[in-house]
Amino acid sequence: LYRRRLEFAYHGYVRRDPMSLLHLRAGRENPYAVYDGMRQAGPLAPTRLGNWVTVSHSVCGTVLRDRRFGVNATELTVTAPGDEFDMSFLDRDPPDHTRLRRLAQPAFSPRQMAGYRPRVEARVDELLDRAGDDFDLVSAFAAPLPIAVITDLLGVPDADADRFTRYGAVIGSALEGIHSLRHAARLKAANDELRALFESLFALRRREPADDVISRIVAAEGDQIQPGEMLPMCSLLLVAGFETTVNLIGNAVHALLGHPRQWADLCADPAGLAGPAIEETLRWDPPVQRTARCAQQDVELEGRTVAKGKFVVTLLGAANRDPEVWREPDRFDIHREQTADHLAFSSGIHYCVGAPLARLEATIALRRLAERLPGLRRNGPLRRRASSVVRGPLHLPVRTSAPA
Ligand code: HEM
Repeated sequence: LYRRRLEFAYHGYVRRDPMSLLHLRAGRENPYAVYDGMRQAGPLAPTRLGNWVTVSHSVCGTVLRDRRFGVNATELTVTAPGDEFDMSFLDRDPPDHTRLRRLAQPAFSPRQMAGYRPRVEARVDELLDRAGDDFDLVSAFAAPLPIAVITDLLGVPDADADRFTRYGAVIGSALEGIHSLRHAARLKAANDELRALFESLFALRRREPADDVISRIVAAEGDQIQPGEMLPMCSLLLVAGFETTVNLIGNAVHALLGHPRQWADLCADPAGLAGPAIEETLRWDPPVQRTARCAQQDVELEGRTVAKGKFVVTLLGAANRDPEVWREPDRFDIHREQTADHLAFSSGIHYCVGAPLARLEATIALRRLAERLPGLRRNGPLRRRASSVVRGPLHLPVRTSAPA
């Protein structure tokens, strides 16, 4: 009886809003089954709160690129003067978005990426030298790599890197939701510490400019960027650097070890197949599962009216498995010819500015793993992050053995 009651409550809850299934444990384990169910409701479906949700690749792309949609709610309440500056450019619309993004973009240029390649390769090899035969792929490899790279890119001195790492990780944990008052207090403390660390870094780079992002930001202070906008931009870069690429590497290794023939193919040609394997992971199991846009005016879409002020949730993970775009979309296949249209990095003006860095890091990581540890195997259950937005393993125990 108890189970029947629970099931009843569960179905009632879900019937009211299919999105709610994504927050339940089963939905977090396999959101793709939930997305499939949602496809029955068509390309654009209403949610319980009067917003909209789309699983369609074409509708996601349209919404993300249509300038009648923005990231800001139309009724933004600013509670104190200066609050608006607490938002990074991910949360800003043009013209502020354009001005701030222009400042960050050069850090990810092809020339900068070419300069990073040997540093990323060296970090990857250092981590693999230390890993041993039996290790947690996430804590020993996938997490420390992007952290080292982003602190390097921001020009954080080695002496401060550990503190940036600690506070950045606490702030990144907010992506999973704030789950207690104690967590909220830790977040506030970490935020204050990070602010102080960045302030001293700004002061250092005003005195001694170097070839890094922070130096470029302080050089533009008062002109292209206002003092209150500097910290949000740096925190965004830090947290984006920490919390995304780790999941891409984790999801790629998890997918490949679950498809041993494809892992063997990769090991036979690491230089040729690491890039395609990362691209297929971005399509098949993307680290960022959804984003949303707010209609800045009434918009006609798929025969419906999205009223001004209403959001459209764009389910990127669902769009990437849209059967109208990919043949056998649920099949993981690193030999697939067409993967580049995936929306793992979003689309339009907010397209991930760090995508070249994420691709560089993840491709080198996977290539070196396949070259150095072809006998890699799973060695225990995977534990997932608790978030339904950020998808990736929290722990992925692996061991190395001679390949069969
Ligand atoms: C934006 C995904 C790595 C920095 C975005 C967006 C997505 C995304 C989906 C757009 C969100 C939206 O449209 O609302 C990813 C994934 C990554 C990754 C899946 C790794 C696999 C990185 C890295 C950095 C970075 C390494 C920087 C170090 C940013 C920034 C934005 C952004 C600054 C805001 C862009 C804008 O608003 O114009 N990312 N990201 N990302 N990402 Fe990434």
